[in-house]
Amino acid sequence: MSRSIPRELSVGEVAARSGVAVSAIHFYEAKGLIASRRNAGNQRRFTRDVLRRVAIIKVAQRTGLSLQEIRQAFATLPEHRAPSAADWQRLSANWRETLDERIRCLTQLRDQLDHCIGCGCLSMDDCPLRNPRDTLAEQGAGARLLEPN
Ligand code: FES
Repeated sequence: MSRSIPRELSVGEVAARSGVAVSAIHFYEAKGLIASRRNAGNQRRFTRDVLRRVAIIKVAQRTGLSLQEIRQAFATLPEHRAPSAADWQRLSANWRETLDERIRCLTQLRDQLDHCIGCGCLSMDDCPLRNPRDTLAEQGAGARLLEPN
């Protein structure tokens, strides 16, 4: 038998149902990731969709996304209604691009690290870890700093 979730939840209920400490719920609220209203007794009340937000925050943090990135993504969700499946899909698609780019950069860094740990020269000219984007090469071939403009 499944128990239905009440329309609004106290901070303790959010913590219990999401498996996150009450202090973390307060922290997410202070950071603008979730919001509550105050009832007549001045107690916080959260709408049910906060459970999905908290779950997504936890997963997003595990992928390496910062709280600021998560907040920016949540800011694209509708304000006056619970996000629809399409809203969450769009948010996920945007994060996929960010994560794909990070995976590409980390893969490249890992491969460079393999080489550099064996080498150890840390040359500004040749080492991709010291000069990761080869910024001078983007300006053209040759000794760019020695050539007059
Ligand atoms: S340490 Fe030699 S190429 Fe990076």
